[in-house]
Amino acid sequence: MAGAVFVFTLVVLMSFAADALDNGLALTPTMGWLHWERFMCNTDCKTDPDNCISERLYMQMADVMVKEGWKDAGYEYVCIDDCWTFHKRDAQGRLQADPDRFPSGIKKLADYIHSKGLKLGIYADLGYKTCGGYPGSLGYHEIDAQTFADWDVDLLKYDGCYLEWKLVGEGYINMSKALNNTGKSILYSCEWPLYVWPFDKPNYTAIRETCNHWRNYADVYDSWSSIKSILDWSAKYQDIIVPSAGPGGWNDPDMLVIGNFGLSHDQQESQMALWAIMAAPLIMSNDLRDICPRSKALLQNKYIIAINQDPLGKQGYQTSKGNDFEVWERPLSENRLAMAVMNRQEIGGPRRFFLAAAPGWELCNPKCNITLILPKYQELGVVPLQTDLMLPVNPSGTMLLTLTPLQNTLQDHKLRWNSTL
Ligand SMILES: *[C@@H]1O[C@H](CO)[C@@H](O)[C@H](O)[C@H]1NC(C)=O
Ligand SMILES: *[C@@H]1O[C@H](CO)[C@@H](O)[C@H](O)[C@H]1NC(C)=O
Ligand SMILES: *[C@@H]1O[C@H](CO)[C@@H](O)[C@H](O)[C@H]1NC(C)=O
Ligand SMILES: *[C@@H]1O[C@H](CO)[C@@H](O)[C@H](O)[C@H]1NC(C)=O
Repeated sequence: MAGAVFVFTLVVLMSFAADALDNGLALTPTMGWLHWERFMCNTDCKTDPDNCISERLYMQMADVMVKEGWKDAGYEYVCIDDCWTFHKRDAQGRLQADPDRFPSGIKKLADYIHSKGLKLGIYADLGYKTCGGYPGSLGYHEIDAQTFADWDVDLLKYDGCYLEWKLVGEGYINMSKALNNTGKSILYSCEWPLYVWPFDKPNYTAIRETCNHWRNYADVYDSWSSIKSILDWSAKYQDIIVPSAGPGGWNDPDMLVIGNFGLSHDQQESQMALWAIMAAPLIMSNDLRDICPRSKALLQNKYIIAINQDPLGKQGYQTSKGNDFEVWERPLSENRLAMAVMNRQEIGGPRRFFLAAAPGWELCNPKCNITLILPKYQELGVVPLQTDLMLPVNPSGTMLLTLTPLQNTLQDHKLRWNSTL
């Protein structure tokens, strides 16, 4: 390891002047559950009643979230995605839930979710159809905002299918204003930049003023290649996206797929650690009724959640890569730093990472208090600047730790990473 060549990323993070959407919500990243990645557009309640998009699914998830510690860990929003509506609006032009799959209606479902101390999220689309082909909100955004407020819904995921990209920004702003006009604070989850990036650089000042979080990049899949592509995209565009995040508005790299089928346990740890570093919404899409204990413990890990929810509200970013390691760092409150070291080599066994090779290590002058969080919690204690500590990281796994500089502060630190480019 000694003598390994690291490429230190030169990160120029200007302070971002723009104000967040002023609805009092998402002061820390949203935590909850959303049906899409795991349950998709399964409407077949006749032959697959346990897995179809129906009021039963959300009620069961809410029950489990209360009973199995999810709510106590901070997961709060139970969210419906596409495919919940009837294929036609009612005589007053309002969206209506599919009557066979939601016989009690959304208002009753919201009451049930609220009775558990949780919140309900719903889905709509700014175009003439949703991505799944259900009625879109184009021309109806005011009626739809009012309908969601009348139903006492707490979050709206607003998709961007079926509209010319030049009108997407206007569509998102229209709904933001319509939600505000209802007088009810409704958390607003957007996909504005995702639909603009193929054509133009999105206006993140406007996006932050309009939305509580925003998807930048492709839908997550239940695979390691999907997680890697999201991380690679986030690192490539970090100079643009990182400064736009802060209390009230966050970059959304999409759902946590931990507890499903496609990721090894090390890869699940990588997703959890990096979503915490990125100050990402922690919105799971999995089956909480049937999840393995290790995945559950990882998703409920209070130390990782505390990094994600850190009140300073700064998004972390990749600070170096080389020798098939990536280092990501996030400034935390109380002058601490979170550091994630991912082993991107997918052959061989655990490889040791020389801690002092991380850019953030320069904070540890003269020493730091180190707490290891992944792969397992361990207080490593006080370590001097001139350390020779090397820590193992599994293939496609991530080591996560926090550094507390002793006799030093982050403010002293110039946030100037040396570039060897
Ligand atoms: C509506 O917007 C105004 C101005 O930004 C803000 O003060 C108010 O809290 C918002 N209301 C809701 C319900 O979001
Ligand atoms: C936005 O709202 C304005 C005013 O109601 C309307 O004319 C326009 O068509 C809307 N645009 C979109 C994309 O919804
Ligand atoms: C981006 O949006 C902001 C706020 O809405 C606006 O003031 C600014 O002019 C926009 N920038 C560009 C390049 O369109
Ligand atoms: C180091 O951090 C651990 C975990 O937060 C804490 O228990 C311990 O007291 C700290 N030690 C010092 C010397 O600050």
